[in-house]
Amino acid sequence: MSPRRRRHALPLAQLVEQATCVAEQVRAELHSVHADPDERWHVRLHHDADVDVWLISWTEEQGTQLHGHGGSSGAFTVVAGELDELVWDPAARELEESTRTRGDVVAFGPGYVHDVRNTREATAVSVHVYSPPLERMDFFDVERGSDGADQLVRLAHVWSDDPEIAAPESVRGPAAGRVAS
Ligand SMILES: [Fe+2]
Repeated sequence: MSPRRRRHALPLAQLVEQATCVAEQVRAELHSVHADPDERWHVRLHHDADVDVWLISWTEEQGTQLHGHGGSSGAFTVVAGELDELVWDPAARELEESTRTRGDVVAFGPGYVHDVRNTREATAVSVHVYSPPLERMDFFDVERGSDGADQLVRLAHVWSDDPEIAAPESVRGPAAGRVAS
């Protein structure tokens, strides 16, 4: 039996380049994009031993809940529309909100915890790259610690290669003050 291949992340610069390149392909209409107001639409465009590439559309008020990506690093970029992103800052122990607009690229390591949502009427489209390919999704909430400061609490994890997998029903719902779809 051959030893299991060691999983490692490609350099973040390479993930950014790949996300940007695929976003250009989407803008050139080389990939079809759908929008489904009932369930966030997503499709995997590429998979190999090192990387997964997903194309996702977000209709108004579609979003995730606070989550991490297991041991994977990644990058995402906005192809069209705008997305609001909450990111857990472990040093400040708070969530920081940013608006990601067309062409913005965010790269992150394996400890990254965020929540992404489209709050606008126009459908948003984004490309997401994960390396090594996703194996697990972690779901979090922010709670006030005994020292009075906020802390990140892991609610659940799901073994999955799907970045859009829902959290277990028992922990689904309001997260970080926002209602998950
Ligand atoms: Fe994510």
